[in-house]
Amino acid sequence: MNLANRVAIITGSGRGIGKAIALRLAETGATVVVNDIDESAQGVAEEIKAMNRQSLAILADVSLSSDVARLVETTRATYGKIDILVNNAGITRDQLVVRMSDEDWDRVLTVNLKSTFLCTRAVLRHMIKQRWGRIISIASIVGIVGNPGQANYASAKAGIIGFTRTVAKEVASRGITVNAIAPGFIDTEMTQQLGEDRRQELMRHIPLGYLGSPRDVAEAVAFLASEEARYITGQVLNVDGGMAEAWL
Ligand SMILES: NC(=O)c1ccc[n+]([C@@H]2O[C@H](COP(=O)([O-])OP(=O)(O)OC[C@H]3O[C@@H](n4cnc5c(N)ncnc54)[C@H](O)[C@@H]3O)[C@@H](O)[C@H]2O)c1
Repeated sequence: MNLANRVAIITGSGRGIGKAIALRLAETGATVVVNDIDESAQGVAEEIKAMNRQSLAILADVSLSSDVARLVETTRATYGKIDILVNNAGITRDQLVVRMSDEDWDRVLTVNLKSTFLCTRAVLRHMIKQRWGRIISIASIVGIVGNPGQANYASAKAGIIGFTRTVAKEVASRGITVNAIAPGFIDTEMTQQLGEDRRQELMRHIPLGYLGSPRDVAEAVAFLASEEARYITGQVLNVDGGMAEAWL
């Protein structure tokens, strides 16, 4: 795989899975715009520059249309184009549905799902003109199989899957592929928040018997972003150690 001369935006890539994706795409030759809502983006951009690749940190809240416009316009003004978008930024606010507040519902839907729409719409204007593009959104197997306490998150991730399938059809004739990745249980700060009992219980549902690493997800993203994946669009790729199949 070779992503030399490709320009990629990775949302929420200051840590966790997004950071692993940013580093993996840079290794493969891409110029990487590291976005996050906080200063963590800066450190990742520095790491990429130390690899002798071009990189820029852009602080932006991808749930806001105005921030997304700035993220995309700054990227285009700096590097002249946008080839790859990875919609990775996401949050959880877990609660049983009977106790879930309006705020927790809205925030999770906005940060996970609306951001995917905003970023995709903004980059498509450029990708359609250049007749090449790769859009990869990080969903979750929770959006396929459900999970108690995560009605907001599961709805957002299921929404990303419907969005992916629809946009893939809308832009297929323009040389743009649109796919989603559904990770299972990956070892990041998001899952480290879970108590030990819950982690052990979830582990029992993983046929391969261990948690995935952010790098496992990054490898799948690098493939879908490559020329080699040109005939794959509208798909959801589970990166989950077999968890969704076992859980259904
Ligand atoms: N960890 C898992 O097991 C797992 C499983 C399935 C899916 N996912 C998904 O993978 C993605 C990355 O998860 P992670 O585990 O690395 O989480 P994480 O919490 O470690 O990282 C998420 C990053 O997104 C950033 N972010 C949050 N809100 C943002 C906003 N409004 N604008 C810009 N950046 C924002 C955070 O600052 C953080 O750096 C998420 O979409 C998550 O839902 C994770």
